[in-house]
Amino acid sequence: MNGFYCTTFVCVLLLPLASSWYFGHSSRQEAEGPIDEACITKARRGDCMFYVCFDQRHPCMSNDYVLTYGWRFCKRYDNNYNRFTTEAKRWINATRLCAMNKLLEFYRDDHINCADVEGESKRAVATCETEHGICDGSLLFDNKDAFGDVYRLSRAATVRFLLTMKNCGSIGMGHLMHWIRDRYHMLQELMDD
Ligand SMILES: *[C@@H]1O[C@H](CO)[C@@H](O)[C@H](O)[C@H]1NC(C)=O
Repeated sequence: MNGFYCTTFVCVLLLPLASSWYFGHSSRQEAEGPIDEACITKARRGDCMFYVCFDQRHPCMSNDYVLTYGWRFCKRYDNNYNRFTTEAKRWINATRLCAMNKLLEFYRDDHINCADVEGESKRAVATCETEHGICDGSLLFDNKDAFGDVYRLSRAATVRFLLTMKNCGSIGMGHLMHWIRDRYHMLQELMDD
């Protein structure tokens, strides 16, 4: 009987401790809303509102990638959409679907780690943008004013842009440096990091 009480006591006490250690330790947080099929449809369509409904299910306070990075740049591309060439519009459409598709994996998870979401999504955006042709000189040069406004002077925007450009390799970098250098005074400082 004593043994039984002891075991129960240990189980009752340690299980919540163990699980809070596990989730606390890895900074995983539970979803705050259900999976919404309408939200998944938005991702499949490349609708910027996907980021907003993602945030409703998985709100991230300190690593708020989805709103500050995903939604903000999605809207900037939307606001400048008609200034891009047809080739660039296709590129915007394709990269957006690619990036949202990556984020859908996290959307479906019951627990997420916000820092992981941020890190993996930023890498996915850079990969999606290069895979769909940002390194081809003409895409960027034909749309340099529109790209310049999407990535207008801010450190976060410049870093996002550079993350993608790093994937282009030395040839791409050489081409792109010319017009980037004109626009971003902090570039040299960032490249030296
Ligand atoms: C991009 O996607 C929008 C919305 O789905 C569509 O209306 C448009 O035709 C697409 N543009 C190109 C160039 O594929």
